[in-house]
Amino acid sequence: MTTKRTSQLPGFYKVTVDERRNLISEATGVSAETMASALDGGGLSADTADKFVENVLGTYGLPYGVTLNVRVNGQDHVVPMVVEEPSVVAAASNAAKMIRSGGGFQVEVDAPVMISQVQIVAVRDRAAATAAILAAKGEILALADAAVPGLVARGGGARGLEVRELGAPEDAMIVAHILVDCRDAMGANLINTVAEAVADRLAALADGSVGLRILSNLCDKRCVRVRCRVPADKLATEQMDGQAVIDGIVNASRFAELDPYRAATHNKGIMNGIDAVVIATGNDWRAVEAGAHAFAARSGTYRPLSIWRRDGDALTGFLELPLALGTVGGTLRVHPSARLSLDVMGVTEAADLAAVAASVGLASNLAAVRALATDGIQRGHMALHARSVALAAGAVGSEVERIAALIVEARDITLEAARRALAIVRKERRSSAPAPGPGVDGESTASAE
Ligand code: MEV
Repeated sequence: MTTKRTSQLPGFYKVTVDERRNLISEATGVSAETMASALDGGGLSADTADKFVENVLGTYGLPYGVTLNVRVNGQDHVVPMVVEEPSVVAAASNAAKMIRSGGGFQVEVDAPVMISQVQIVAVRDRAAATAAILAAKGEILALADAAVPGLVARGGGARGLEVRELGAPEDAMIVAHILVDCRDAMGANLINTVAEAVADRLAALADGSVGLRILSNLCDKRCVRVRCRVPADKLATEQMDGQAVIDGIVNASRFAELDPYRAATHNKGIMNGIDAVVIATGNDWRAVEAGAHAFAARSGTYRPLSIWRRDGDALTGFLELPLALGTVGGTLRVHPSARLSLDVMGVTEAADLAAVAASVGLASNLAAVRALATDGIQRGHMALHARSVALAAGAVGSEVERIAALIVEARDITLEAARRALAIVRKERRSSAPAPGPGVDGESTASAE
Protein backbone atom coordinates (compact mmCIF):
# COMPACT_ATOMS: atom_id res chain seq x y z
CA MET A 1 0.00 0.00 0.00
CA THR A 2 1.41 3.42 -0.94
CA THR A 3 1.98 5.67 2.04
CA LYS A 4 0.05 8.91 1.79
CA ARG A 5 1.34 11.91 3.61
CA THR A 6 -1.98 12.68 5.25
CA SER A 7 -5.72 12.26 5.07
CA GLN A 8 -6.25 14.96 7.71
CA LEU A 9 -7.15 18.28 6.12
CA PRO A 10 -8.88 20.54 8.64
CA GLY A 11 -11.28 23.07 7.11
CA PHE A 12 -11.43 21.13 3.83
CA TYR A 13 -15.19 21.43 3.59
CA LYS A 14 -15.06 25.22 3.80
CA VAL A 15 -12.96 25.90 0.70
CA THR A 16 -13.87 25.93 -2.99
CA VAL A 17 -13.71 22.92 -5.28
CA ASP A 18 -10.51 24.24 -6.91
CA GLU A 19 -8.86 24.80 -3.54
CA ARG A 20 -9.86 21.29 -2.48
CA ARG A 21 -8.23 19.85 -5.57
CA ASN A 22 -5.01 21.69 -4.67
CA LEU A 23 -5.13 20.38 -1.10
CA ILE A 24 -5.71 16.80 -2.28
CA SER A 25 -2.89 17.22 -4.76
CA GLU A 26 -0.53 18.20 -1.94
CA ALA A 27 -1.74 15.33 0.23
CA THR A 28 -1.65 12.59 -2.40
CA GLY A 29 0.69 13.68 -5.17
CA VAL A 30 -2.09 13.51 -7.81
CA SER A 31 -2.05 16.77 -9.76
CA ALA A 32 -5.03 19.12 -9.85
CA GLU A 33 -4.86 18.96 -13.66
CA THR A 34 -5.24 15.18 -13.55
CA MET A 35 -8.28 15.62 -11.29
CA ALA A 36 -9.76 18.18 -13.66
CA SER A 37 -9.33 15.99 -16.71
CA ALA A 38 -10.67 12.89 -14.95
CA LEU A 39 -13.65 14.57 -13.30
CA ASP A 40 -14.81 17.61 -15.26
CA GLY A 41 -17.75 16.65 -17.39
CA GLY A 42 -18.12 13.44 -15.38
CA GLY A 43 -14.89 12.00 -16.76
CA LEU A 44 -16.67 9.91 -19.36
CA SER A 45 -17.55 11.11 -22.85
CA ALA A 46 -20.74 9.99 -24.56
CA ASP A 47 -18.55 8.25 -27.17
CA THR A 48 -16.77 6.19 -24.51
CA ALA A 49 -20.06 5.49 -22.74
CA ASP A 50 -21.37 4.19 -26.06
CA LYS A 51 -18.68 1.49 -25.90
CA PHE A 52 -19.68 0.47 -22.35
CA VAL A 53 -23.36 -0.24 -22.78
CA GLU A 54 -26.06 -0.24 -25.40
CA ASN A 55 -28.54 2.38 -26.66
CA VAL A 56 -26.53 5.22 -25.09
CA LEU A 57 -27.99 8.72 -25.05
CA GLY A 58 -25.36 10.28 -22.80
CA THR A 59 -23.90 9.98 -19.31
CA TYR A 60 -25.33 10.62 -15.83
CA GLY A 61 -23.36 12.63 -13.29
CA LEU A 62 -23.10 12.04 -9.54
CA PRO A 63 -21.20 13.99 -6.88
CA TYR A 64 -17.61 12.84 -6.34
CA GLY A 65 -16.34 13.71 -2.86
CA VAL A 66 -13.55 12.48 -0.60
CA THR A 67 -13.66 11.07 2.89
CA LEU A 68 -10.83 12.29 5.07
CA ASN A 69 -9.15 11.00 8.25
CA VAL A 70 -9.15 7.36 7.13
CA ARG A 71 -6.26 5.40 8.62
CA VAL A 72 -6.12 1.70 7.76
CA ASN A 73 -3.48 -0.59 9.25
CA GLY A 74 -1.33 2.46 9.98
CA GLN A 75 -1.63 4.02 6.51
CA ASP A 76 -3.50 7.21 5.64
CA HIS A 77 -5.93 7.28 2.73
CA VAL A 78 -7.94 10.04 1.13
CA VAL A 79 -10.95 8.05 -0.05
CA PRO A 80 -13.10 9.06 -3.05
CA MET A 81 -16.83 8.44 -2.69
CA VAL A 82 -19.49 8.75 -5.37
CA VAL A 83 -22.90 9.17 -3.77
CA GLU A 84 -25.98 11.33 -4.19
CA GLU A 85 -27.12 11.27 -0.54
CA PRO A 86 -26.28 14.37 1.52
CA SER A 87 -24.25 13.81 4.70
CA VAL A 88 -22.79 10.40 3.78
CA VAL A 89 -19.34 11.82 2.99
CA ALA A 90 -19.32 14.23 5.94
CA ALA A 91 -20.53 11.56 8.33
CA ALA A 92 -17.90 9.04 7.21
CA SER A 93 -15.14 11.66 7.57
CA ASN A 94 -16.30 12.61 11.05
CA ALA A 95 -16.55 9.00 12.21
CA ALA A 96 -13.18 8.14 10.65
CA LYS A 97 -11.71 10.98 12.72
CA MET A 98 -13.13 9.47 15.93
CA ILE A 99 -11.85 6.02 14.95
CA ARG A 100 -8.47 7.46 14.10
CA SER A 101 -8.14 8.76 17.64
CA GLY A 102 -8.37 5.15 18.83
CA GLY A 103 -5.66 3.93 16.42
CA GLY A 104 -7.61 3.74 13.16
CA PHE A 105 -9.01 0.68 11.41
CA GLN A 106 -7.36 -2.72 11.85
CA VAL A 107 -8.18 -4.83 8.81
CA GLU A 108 -7.60 -8.41 7.64
CA VAL A 109 -8.39 -9.37 4.05
CA ASP A 110 -8.71 -12.96 2.80
CA ALA A 111 -6.95 -14.16 -0.34
CA PRO A 112 -8.94 -13.08 -3.44
CA VAL A 113 -10.53 -16.47 -3.99
CA MET A 114 -13.80 -16.51 -5.94
CA ILE A 115 -16.22 -19.38 -6.51
CA SER A 116 -16.98 -20.62 -10.01
CA GLN A 117 -20.22 -22.65 -9.95
CA VAL A 118 -21.03 -25.45 -12.36
CA GLN A 119 -24.48 -26.92 -11.92
CA ILE A 120 -24.88 -30.53 -13.02
CA VAL A 121 -28.36 -31.95 -13.46
CA ALA A 122 -29.86 -35.38 -14.16
CA VAL A 123 -27.35 -36.97 -11.81
CA ARG A 124 -28.65 -40.43 -10.92
CA ASP A 125 -26.07 -41.28 -8.26
CA ARG A 126 -24.98 -38.09 -6.49
CA ALA A 127 -22.53 -39.77 -4.11
CA ALA A 128 -20.76 -41.53 -6.98
CA ALA A 129 -20.72 -38.31 -9.03
CA THR A 130 -19.22 -36.38 -6.13
CA ALA A 131 -16.55 -39.01 -5.55
CA ALA A 132 -15.65 -39.13 -9.27
CA ILE A 133 -15.30 -35.35 -9.50
CA LEU A 134 -13.20 -35.08 -6.35
CA ALA A 135 -10.97 -37.93 -7.55
CA ALA A 136 -10.28 -35.89 -10.71
CA LYS A 137 -9.36 -32.74 -8.79
CA GLY A 138 -5.90 -32.38 -10.35
CA GLU A 139 -7.27 -32.72 -13.87
CA ILE A 140 -10.11 -30.20 -13.24
CA LEU A 141 -7.81 -27.60 -11.69
CA ALA A 142 -5.37 -27.99 -14.59
CA LEU A 143 -8.25 -27.50 -17.07
CA ALA A 144 -9.29 -24.39 -15.16
CA ASP A 145 -5.76 -22.97 -15.16
CA ALA A 146 -5.40 -23.63 -18.88
CA ALA A 147 -8.48 -21.47 -19.49
CA VAL A 148 -6.95 -18.42 -17.74
CA PRO A 149 -3.22 -18.43 -18.59
CA GLY A 150 -2.85 -14.66 -18.03
CA LEU A 151 -4.18 -15.00 -14.50
CA VAL A 152 -1.85 -17.95 -13.81
CA ALA A 153 1.07 -15.86 -15.11
CA ARG A 154 0.11 -13.13 -12.60
CA GLY A 155 0.25 -15.63 -9.73
CA GLY A 156 -3.44 -16.53 -9.58
CA GLY A 157 -5.37 -19.57 -10.74
CA ALA A 158 -7.37 -22.55 -9.52
CA ARG A 159 -6.93 -23.36 -5.84
CA GLY A 160 -9.58 -25.88 -4.90
CA LEU A 161 -12.59 -27.96 -5.80
CA GLU A 162 -15.74 -28.64 -3.79
CA VAL A 163 -18.91 -30.53 -4.63
CA ARG A 164 -22.29 -29.99 -2.99
CA GLU A 165 -25.44 -32.05 -3.33
CA LEU A 166 -28.45 -29.75 -3.62
CA GLY A 167 -31.95 -30.53 -2.41
CA ALA A 168 -33.20 -34.11 -2.18
CA PRO A 169 -31.93 -37.13 -4.19
CA GLU A 170 -34.89 -36.77 -6.57
CA ASP A 171 -33.64 -33.27 -7.52
CA ALA A 172 -30.71 -35.16 -9.08
CA MET A 173 -28.62 -32.01 -8.82
CA ILE A 174 -25.11 -31.29 -7.69
CA VAL A 175 -22.92 -28.21 -7.99
CA ALA A 176 -19.16 -28.12 -8.32
CA HIS A 177 -17.29 -25.12 -6.99
CA ILE A 178 -13.95 -24.35 -8.54
CA LEU A 179 -12.10 -21.96 -6.25
CA VAL A 180 -10.00 -19.48 -8.17
CA ASP A 181 -7.53 -16.90 -6.89
CA CYS A 182 -8.23 -13.78 -8.99
CA ARG A 183 -5.33 -11.66 -7.71
CA ASP A 184 -6.17 -7.97 -8.28
CA ALA A 185 -9.17 -8.58 -10.54
CA MET A 186 -12.76 -8.58 -9.33
CA GLY A 187 -12.83 -11.80 -11.29
CA ALA A 188 -16.29 -12.16 -12.84
CA ASN A 189 -15.01 -12.73 -16.39
CA LEU A 190 -12.21 -15.03 -15.26
CA ILE A 191 -14.52 -17.10 -13.12
CA ASN A 192 -17.16 -17.43 -15.82
CA THR A 193 -14.46 -18.48 -18.29
CA VAL A 194 -13.32 -21.18 -15.86
CA ALA A 195 -16.88 -22.43 -15.33
CA GLU A 196 -17.43 -22.81 -19.05
CA ALA A 197 -14.04 -24.46 -19.57
CA VAL A 198 -14.51 -27.26 -17.03
CA ALA A 199 -18.26 -27.87 -17.25
CA ASP A 200 -18.33 -30.61 -19.89
CA ARG A 201 -15.67 -32.67 -18.14
CA LEU A 202 -17.45 -32.31 -14.80
CA ALA A 203 -20.74 -33.43 -16.31
CA ALA A 204 -19.05 -36.44 -17.89
CA LEU A 205 -17.46 -37.41 -14.57
CA ALA A 206 -20.84 -37.02 -12.85
CA ASP A 207 -22.70 -38.88 -15.60
CA GLY A 208 -25.09 -35.93 -15.74
CA SER A 209 -25.80 -32.85 -17.86
CA VAL A 210 -24.35 -29.36 -17.66
CA GLY A 211 -26.62 -26.71 -16.15
CA LEU A 212 -25.54 -23.16 -15.27
CA ARG A 213 -21.92 -22.06 -15.39
CA ILE A 214 -21.38 -18.79 -13.53
CA LEU A 215 -19.59 -17.19 -10.59
CA SER A 216 -21.21 -16.95 -7.17
CA ASN A 217 -21.62 -13.45 -5.78
CA LEU A 218 -21.67 -14.98 -2.31
CA CYS A 219 -17.87 -14.86 -2.37
CA ASP A 220 -17.48 -15.86 1.25
CA LYS A 221 -13.89 -17.03 0.76
CA ARG A 222 -12.99 -13.41 -0.03
CA CYS A 223 -14.03 -11.65 3.18
CA VAL A 224 -12.77 -8.52 4.86
CA ARG A 225 -12.76 -8.09 8.64
CA VAL A 226 -12.45 -4.60 10.13
CA ARG A 227 -11.99 -3.72 13.78
CA CYS A 228 -11.89 -0.35 15.47
CA ARG A 229 -11.86 1.14 18.95
CA VAL A 230 -13.13 4.59 19.87
CA PRO A 231 -12.40 6.25 23.22
CA ALA A 232 -15.59 7.34 25.01
CA ASP A 233 -14.70 11.05 25.13
CA LYS A 234 -14.52 11.21 21.32
CA LEU A 235 -18.11 10.03 21.05
CA ALA A 236 -19.64 12.65 23.35
CA THR A 237 -22.16 15.14 21.97
CA GLU A 238 -23.33 18.48 23.38
CA GLN A 239 -26.13 16.68 25.21
CA MET A 240 -24.64 13.27 26.06
CA ASP A 241 -21.35 12.17 27.57
CA GLY A 242 -19.27 9.52 25.85
CA GLN A 243 -20.29 6.71 28.24
CA ALA A 244 -23.97 7.28 27.52
CA VAL A 245 -23.24 7.36 23.78
CA ILE A 246 -21.45 3.99 24.05
CA ASP A 247 -24.50 2.54 25.81
CA GLY A 248 -26.75 3.94 23.09
CA ILE A 249 -24.62 2.51 20.29
CA VAL A 250 -24.45 -0.93 21.95
CA ASN A 251 -28.25 -0.82 22.24
CA ALA A 252 -28.46 0.06 18.55
CA SER A 253 -26.22 -2.90 17.73
CA ARG A 254 -28.30 -5.29 19.86
CA PHE A 255 -31.46 -4.02 18.16
CA ALA A 256 -29.98 -4.91 14.75
CA GLU A 257 -28.76 -8.29 16.05
CA LEU A 258 -32.25 -9.14 17.30
CA ASP A 259 -34.41 -7.73 14.51
CA PRO A 260 -34.00 -8.28 10.75
CA TYR A 261 -36.12 -5.18 10.08
CA ARG A 262 -33.54 -3.07 11.86
CA ALA A 263 -30.60 -5.14 10.55
CA ALA A 264 -31.54 -4.23 6.96
CA THR A 265 -31.34 -0.50 7.76
CA HIS A 266 -28.20 -0.94 9.87
CA ASN A 267 -26.56 -2.69 6.91
CA LYS A 268 -27.81 0.01 4.54
CA GLY A 269 -25.81 2.47 6.64
CA ILE A 270 -22.70 0.30 6.13
CA MET A 271 -23.32 0.03 2.40
CA ASN A 272 -23.70 3.83 2.15
CA GLY A 273 -19.96 3.98 2.67
CA ILE A 274 -18.91 0.85 0.83
CA ASP A 275 -21.01 1.40 -2.30
CA ALA A 276 -19.78 4.97 -2.65
CA VAL A 277 -16.17 3.74 -2.72
CA VAL A 278 -17.07 0.81 -4.97
CA ILE A 279 -18.71 3.15 -7.49
CA ALA A 280 -15.86 5.69 -7.32
CA THR A 281 -13.41 2.92 -8.24
CA GLY A 282 -15.43 1.57 -11.17
CA ASN A 283 -16.34 -1.66 -9.41
CA ASP A 284 -19.59 -3.66 -9.61
CA TRP A 285 -21.73 -2.45 -6.71
CA ARG A 286 -24.59 -4.82 -7.53
CA ALA A 287 -22.21 -7.75 -7.02
CA VAL A 288 -21.01 -6.28 -3.74
CA GLU A 289 -24.58 -5.67 -2.55
CA ALA A 290 -25.67 -9.20 -3.51
CA GLY A 291 -22.72 -10.72 -1.67
CA ALA A 292 -23.15 -8.55 1.42
CA HIS A 293 -26.83 -9.34 1.92
CA ALA A 294 -26.45 -13.06 1.17
CA PHE A 295 -23.64 -13.13 3.76
CA ALA A 296 -25.83 -11.24 6.25
CA ALA A 297 -28.44 -14.00 5.89
CA ARG A 298 -26.02 -16.95 5.99
CA SER A 299 -27.27 -18.22 9.36
CA GLY A 300 -30.81 -18.45 8.00
CA THR A 301 -31.77 -15.17 9.71
CA TYR A 302 -30.82 -11.79 8.28
CA ARG A 303 -28.26 -10.22 10.63
CA PRO A 304 -26.17 -7.04 10.88
CA LEU A 305 -22.78 -7.15 9.17
CA SER A 306 -21.25 -5.21 12.07
CA ILE A 307 -21.53 -5.33 15.82
CA TRP A 308 -20.63 -2.73 18.46
CA ARG A 309 -19.65 -3.45 22.06
CA ARG A 310 -18.26 -1.69 25.11
CA ASP A 311 -14.70 -2.55 26.13
CA GLY A 312 -13.93 -0.68 29.36
CA ASP A 313 -14.06 3.03 28.52
CA ALA A 314 -14.08 2.49 24.80
CA LEU A 315 -16.45 1.40 22.07
CA THR A 316 -15.30 -1.42 19.81
CA GLY A 317 -16.66 -2.17 16.35
CA PHE A 318 -16.32 -5.23 14.16
CA LEU A 319 -17.45 -5.62 10.56
CA GLU A 320 -17.17 -8.68 8.33
CA LEU A 321 -18.41 -9.09 4.77
CA PRO A 322 -17.36 -10.56 1.43
CA LEU A 323 -15.90 -7.94 -0.87
CA ALA A 324 -14.93 -8.73 -4.46
CA LEU A 325 -13.21 -5.61 -5.74
CA GLY A 326 -10.67 -5.22 -8.49
CA THR A 327 -7.91 -2.75 -9.21
CA VAL A 328 -7.28 -4.08 -12.73
CA GLY A 329 -9.47 -4.81 -15.73
CA GLY A 330 -13.12 -4.01 -16.34
CA THR A 331 -14.25 -0.41 -16.06
CA LEU A 332 -10.90 0.62 -14.60
CA ARG A 333 -9.22 0.21 -17.94
CA VAL A 334 -11.44 2.80 -19.59
CA HIS A 335 -12.98 5.09 -16.98
CA PRO A 336 -10.63 7.96 -16.11
CA SER A 337 -12.47 8.83 -12.88
CA ALA A 338 -12.15 5.25 -11.61
CA ARG A 339 -8.41 5.26 -12.28
CA LEU A 340 -8.14 8.66 -10.55
CA SER A 341 -9.87 7.25 -7.47
CA LEU A 342 -7.23 4.57 -7.00
CA ASP A 343 -4.46 7.13 -7.40
CA VAL A 344 -6.05 9.52 -4.90
CA MET A 345 -6.60 6.64 -2.49
CA GLY A 346 -3.04 5.44 -3.02
CA VAL A 347 -3.92 1.79 -3.59
CA THR A 348 -2.84 -0.56 -6.33
CA GLU A 349 -3.82 -3.93 -4.87
CA ALA A 350 -7.36 -5.26 -4.66
CA ALA A 351 -6.85 -6.34 -1.04
CA ASP A 352 -5.96 -2.79 -0.04
CA LEU A 353 -8.97 -1.40 -1.87
CA ALA A 354 -11.20 -3.88 -0.04
CA ALA A 355 -9.63 -2.91 3.28
CA VAL A 356 -10.25 0.79 2.67
CA ALA A 357 -13.80 0.32 1.34
CA ALA A 358 -14.81 -1.85 4.30
CA SER A 359 -13.28 0.67 6.71
CA VAL A 360 -15.36 3.46 5.20
CA GLY A 361 -18.37 1.15 5.61
CA LEU A 362 -17.67 0.77 9.32
CA ALA A 363 -17.15 4.55 9.64
CA SER A 364 -20.49 5.21 7.91
CA ASN A 365 -22.17 2.73 10.23
CA LEU A 366 -20.66 4.35 13.33
CA ALA A 367 -21.78 7.79 12.17
CA ALA A 368 -25.33 6.53 11.61
CA VAL A 369 -25.74 4.63 14.88
CA ARG A 370 -24.14 7.45 16.88
CA ALA A 371 -26.51 9.99 15.32
CA LEU A 372 -29.48 7.67 15.92
CA ALA A 373 -28.45 7.02 19.53
CA THR A 374 -28.01 10.76 20.25
CA ASP A 375 -29.57 13.67 18.31
CA GLY A 376 -31.44 11.56 15.75
CA ILE A 377 -30.53 11.45 12.09
CA GLN A 378 -32.53 14.40 10.83
CA ARG A 379 -30.54 17.29 12.27
CA GLY A 380 -27.37 16.65 10.27
CA HIS A 381 -29.32 15.50 7.23
CA MET A 382 -31.39 18.63 7.20
CA ALA A 383 -28.37 20.92 7.38
CA LEU A 384 -26.95 19.26 4.29
CA HIS A 385 -30.30 18.94 2.55
CA ALA A 386 -30.59 22.71 3.00
CA ARG A 387 -27.52 23.15 0.79
CA SER A 388 -29.19 21.24 -2.06
CA VAL A 389 -32.30 23.35 -1.61
CA ALA A 390 -30.20 26.53 -1.68
CA LEU A 391 -28.55 25.36 -4.89
CA ALA A 392 -31.91 24.54 -6.41
CA ALA A 393 -33.07 28.06 -5.53
CA GLY A 394 -30.20 29.47 -7.59
CA ALA A 395 -27.62 30.26 -4.89
CA VAL A 396 -24.04 30.27 -6.15
CA GLY A 397 -20.62 30.30 -4.47
CA SER A 398 -20.66 31.51 -0.88
CA GLU A 399 -24.41 32.15 -1.16
CA VAL A 400 -25.04 28.41 -0.87
CA GLU A 401 -23.82 28.09 2.73
CA ARG A 402 -25.42 31.38 3.67
CA ILE A 403 -28.86 30.54 2.28
CA ALA A 404 -28.66 27.01 3.72
CA ALA A 405 -27.85 28.42 7.16
CA LEU A 406 -30.71 30.90 6.93
CA ILE A 407 -33.36 28.33 6.04
CA VAL A 408 -32.09 25.91 8.71
CA GLU A 409 -32.24 28.74 11.24
CA ALA A 410 -35.77 29.56 10.12
CA ARG A 411 -36.68 25.81 10.28
CA ASP A 412 -38.17 26.21 6.81
CA ILE A 413 -36.07 24.10 4.43
CA THR A 414 -38.15 24.65 1.33
CA LEU A 415 -37.44 25.99 -2.13
CA GLU A 416 -39.76 28.91 -1.46
CA ALA A 417 -37.92 29.89 1.72
CA ALA A 418 -34.55 29.55 -0.04
CA ARG A 419 -35.72 31.77 -2.91
CA ARG A 420 -36.97 34.41 -0.46
CA ALA A 421 -33.70 34.31 1.51
CA LEU A 422 -31.68 34.57 -1.69
CA ALA A 423 -33.62 37.59 -2.86
CA ILE A 424 -33.06 39.32 0.48
CA VAL A 425 -29.35 38.46 0.63
CA ARG A 426 -28.79 39.74 -2.91
CA LYS A 427 -30.79 42.88 -2.34
CA GLU A 428 -28.87 43.64 0.83
CA ARG A 429 -25.58 42.96 -0.85
CA ARG A 430 -26.49 45.39 -3.64
CA SER A 431 -27.18 48.10 -1.12
CA SER A 432 -24.00 47.06 0.79
CA ALA A 433 -25.95 46.50 3.97
CA PRO A 434 -25.04 43.57 6.25
CA ALA A 435 -26.98 40.40 5.44
CA PRO A 436 -29.81 39.43 7.79
CA GLY A 437 -30.04 36.40 10.03
CA PRO A 438 -28.90 36.12 13.64
CA GLY A 439 -26.12 33.63 14.24
CA VAL A 440 -25.51 32.82 10.59
CA ASP A 441 -21.82 32.17 10.24
CA GLY A 442 -21.78 30.40 6.90
CA GLU A 443 -20.79 27.03 8.34
CA SER A 444 -22.71 23.85 7.80
CA THR A 445 -23.67 22.10 11.03
CA ALA A 446 -22.60 18.80 9.47
CA SER A 447 -19.01 19.58 8.61
CA ALA A 448 -16.89 17.16 6.66
CA GLU A 449 -13.75 17.87 8.58
C1 MEV B 1 -29.51 6.37 5.80
O1 MEV B 1 -28.98 6.44 4.49
C2 MEV B 1 -28.80 5.29 6.58
C3 MEV B 1 -29.34 5.05 7.99
O2 MEV B 1 -30.73 4.75 7.93
C4 MEV B 1 -28.56 3.90 8.58
C5 MEV B 1 -29.06 3.42 9.93
O3 MEV B 1 -30.23 3.59 10.23
O4 MEV B 1 -28.22 2.86 10.65
C6 MEV B 1 -29.22 6.28 8.84
